[in-house]
Amino acid sequence: MHIKTIGESEISPDATLIAGVLQGLEPLPGSEGVLDAVDLRVLEVSGFEGKPGQVVTVPHREGAAVIVGLGDEATFESLRAASGNAVRAVKTGEAICLLGLAPIEGAIRAVVEGLVLGGYQYRAYKTSDEGESKVESVGVLGADEDDIASSLVGANATNMARDWTNAPALDASPEALAAMFVAGATALPIEIEIWDRTRIEEEKLGALLGVAAGSDRPPVLMIMSYRPDDARGHLGLVGKGITFDSGGLSIKTAPFMEEMKDDMTGAAVVAAATIAVARAGLPLRVTTVVPLTDNAIGGNATRPGDVLRPAVGPTIEVLNTDAEGRLILADGLGVVRRYEPDLIVDVATLTGAAKVALGEKIAAVFGSESGVSERILSAASRAGEFFWEMPLFKDYRKALDSNIADIKNITGSRYGGAIAAALFLSEYAGDGDWAHLDIAGPALSRETSGEQVKGGSGVGVRTLLELARLLAEADA
Ligand code: BES
Ligand code: MN
Ligand code: ZN
Repeated sequence: MHIKTIGESEISPDATLIAGVLQGLEPLPGSEGVLDAVDLRVLEVSGFEGKPGQVVTVPHREGAAVIVGLGDEATFESLRAASGNAVRAVKTGEAICLLGLAPIEGAIRAVVEGLVLGGYQYRAYKTSDEGESKVESVGVLGADEDDIASSLVGANATNMARDWTNAPALDASPEALAAMFVAGATALPIEIEIWDRTRIEEEKLGALLGVAAGSDRPPVLMIMSYRPDDARGHLGLVGKGITFDSGGLSIKTAPFMEEMKDDMTGAAVVAAATIAVARAGLPLRVTTVVPLTDNAIGGNATRPGDVLRPAVGPTIEVLNTDAEGRLILADGLGVVRRYEPDLIVDVATLTGAAKVALGEKIAAVFGSESGVSERILSAASRAGEFFWEMPLFKDYRKALDSNIADIKNITGSRYGGAIAAALFLSEYAGDGDWAHLDIAGPALSRETSGEQVKGGSGVGVRTLLELARLLAEADA
């Protein structure tokens, strides 16, 4: 979908308009004039009141108007959601969107994001065009080229991450996924290094190798670096790239395995965020490390009770092979620390416990100190993504003491699992600023609504992009 600027005089009579209405059937302030041909009171007979989520299509001049409810107020959130709901109702190749005329700060950003995110479809495996969106371009009234271009960066990168998550594990092996990330970075100033199994062995990444041991598909570790000349700081990213999580020998039951192709979402999110930062040309150095492997079953698979040696940090007694994300992240963190970033952020679909704690729409943030979590939370709120802070509660650390190694990978208790996993990672994150984002809950959207589309959500991409913007400003 192409998003472009357009002037009021360029609206043809047969256009499809996208217009917003507040609860009580008030037109969105700023757009009254354009909607002159619609008598809003007639909408009431169809049950349309301007509530969030409501959409009706009515004739307008020689074309149509898609009217969306905004609820009580035009806000960043309501505009983004309404734009998403509206774009899915458009039946023509072109549309003209009036929602950006709302007189609030950031309206254009919210609308462009809503259109691009809400209009997302994953059709790679569909053989018919039934249900396929016809929308090719949307002209946004009131927007200038720069607003559109800067708003598109985060939205397009989010859709890129969604594509990668939605791809079946069959076609997204560690090597294939790395190739997809490389393709996403095409023509951008990002240097990419790919370590194959031999190199990973030379580097002694024993924890990553231990998880990979049960799979016939070799692991990969990818390093992306964006180093602008005017860099004002250095962000290190690490993403969990489990291309399929069967649980390993501690095998999952079928219902829990169904969605485990999404266990590489952390990797997709940090790769897409790196691409976004480079595309935005932010003056911030970014080093991104992505360990990629299946967690499969085979004759050589790591057994419960085995001890793994990551390249740096404590030796690990693996008592449950399904707690594999923290193992590959231990080695990923070890690699990113070599580059000495000012702040490290890891992103992972790490624990079912995070999902139990916060549900499927909120991600967990753990920070090495409160200032770090605050920066993530403020970036998330600017991005319109939902994160909540959880504690790195030190008292729980002793539950990870191992009888024979330095640490074990589970506590043996069902309780506080997201915190235990974060405490485990803290052993490998070093002494500097570090945040851990557990996105197990919101990595997938359950339903199509607003800017969300059922399937991979790409959650975290826009938060990391906002974080990068904050860091690039802060050190100016
Ligand atoms: N990938 C899962 C976590 C997960 C669960 C993500 C549900 C998305 C949805 C992770 O590798 C895992 O299996 N974690 C275990 C840890 C346990 C064995 C300590 C879990 O949460 O059950
Ligand atoms: Mn697992
Ligand atoms: Zn996993």
